[in-house]
Amino acid sequence: MIKVLLSQEIHPEGRKLLEGKFDVRIAPSAAEADLIEAAKDVEAIILRTNAKITRKIIESAPKLKIISRTGAGVDNVDVDAATEKGILVCNLPAVNNVSVAEHAVALIMHLAKQLSAMDRAVREGKWSIRNSNIAVELEGKILGVIGMGSIGALVAKKCHDGLGMKILAYDPYTKEKFKDCDYEFVGDLKELFRRADFVTLHCPDTPQTRGMVTRDLIYSMKPTAYIVNTARGTLIDEKALIDALKERSIAGAGLDVFTEEPPDKDNELLKLDNVVLSPHSAAMTKEATTRMSTEAAQAVVDYFEGRQPRYIFNIKGLIEKGVELSYKSRF
Ligand SMILES: NC(=O)c1ccc[n+]([C@@H]2O[C@H](COP(=O)([O-])OP(=O)(O)OC[C@H]3O[C@@H](n4cnc5c(N)ncnc54)[C@H](O)[C@@H]3O)[C@@H](O)[C@H]2O)c1
Repeated sequence: MIKVLLSQEIHPEGRKLLEGKFDVRIAPSAAEADLIEAAKDVEAIILRTNAKITRKIIESAPKLKIISRTGAGVDNVDVDAATEKGILVCNLPAVNNVSVAEHAVALIMHLAKQLSAMDRAVREGKWSIRNSNIAVELEGKILGVIGMGSIGALVAKKCHDGLGMKILAYDPYTKEKFKDCDYEFVGDLKELFRRADFVTLHCPDTPQTRGMVTRDLIYSMKPTAYIVNTARGTLIDEKALIDALKERSIAGAGLDVFTEEPPDKDNELLKLDNVVLSPHSAAMTKEATTRMSTEAAQAVVDYFEGRQPRYIFNIKGLIEKGVELSYKSRF
C-alpha cells in the first residue's frame, strides 16, 4: 500500500478520502529529524502549516512523489529542492479566502461598533456606556486596502457593496483588474494611511512587504482610524503599533496575526483595551477546514489514480524537466 504522511491530523472528511486506499501515518512532531525519519519511505506528504519540508527531508525521502499543501502558501516547502527531484508541490489557492475576508470584515465591524468595550461594560453593570457614542457608522467611511489579491478584493467588495464604504486601494500589481470598479487606487502608501478610516492588510510576507507598515505610516493615521491585520504580523512594526495604541494616536486595531505566534504572555498588545485579537484563526472556519483537508487529500488521490491534481504550484519547473504529472502516466 502507498504510504502517505500527514504532518498533523487533518479533518475527518479528508481522512475518509484516504482510508482504505493508502497507509496513512502522522508525523510524531514537526522537528526536522522526526520528519526525516517519518518521510523516508512515504510517497506522499499532506502538509499543514505546522511543519516545514526542507531540502534535507526531501533528499532523505527517495520515494516521495507529491507534497500536498492544505492551504495556498508554499512558504513551508523547499519548492526548488522538490522540483529538482521531480516532486509535485500541490497547493490550494483561494481555499480559505471567503473565511479570511469575512474575518477581516468582522474585525472592522467589531471595532466600528466597539463590541469589546460594550460587552465588558454590560457585564460590569456600566449600562451608561450606551450614551458614550463611541461606536461609528461604516457607511461612507474610507477603507484602505493594501493588497488587492483574492482576499483583499473580496474584503473591498463586501465593504463597498455591502456596507457602503469607499475603497482606497494600494497594490502595485493588480490595478488593471479593477478598472470597472468604483475604487480609488493610490500609488503611495502615505496617502492611504493619511486618508483611511480603516486600513486592512492583505499582502504576502515577502522581503519587500516585511515591515512595510512603518512607525511613520502608523503615526500619520487619523486619531479616529483603525488598523486591521489578517495577513502576517511581520508586515507591521509591532512596537510602533503598540506605542500608537497606548498613546491613542490611533483609535484601535484588530489583529489575527502577530510578529511572534503565539504572542509572548508579556506582549503589551494583550493588555490594551483598544485592540481585538484572534489566534491566527481567520481561515479556521468549519467550512474552510473541511475544504482544506478534503481538497489536499483529493490531490493525492487524483495523482495516484492517474489524474493530474488540480493545482500544481511547481508545474512549470516539472514540465521543463519532463516530469509526468500523474502517477499512472509516470510509470
Ligand atoms: N489569517 C489567516 O489565517 C490567513 C489565511 C490565508 C492567507 N493569509 C494571508 O493573506 C495574504 C493574502 O492572501 P491572498 O490569498 O489574497 O493572496 P494573493 O496572492 O491572492 O494576493 C496578494 C496580493 O498582494 C499584492 N502585493 C504583493 N506585494 C505587495 C506590496 N508590496 N504592496 C501591496 N500589495 C502587494 C499582490 O499583488 C496580490 O494582489 C497571504 O499572503 C497570507 O499572508 C492569512
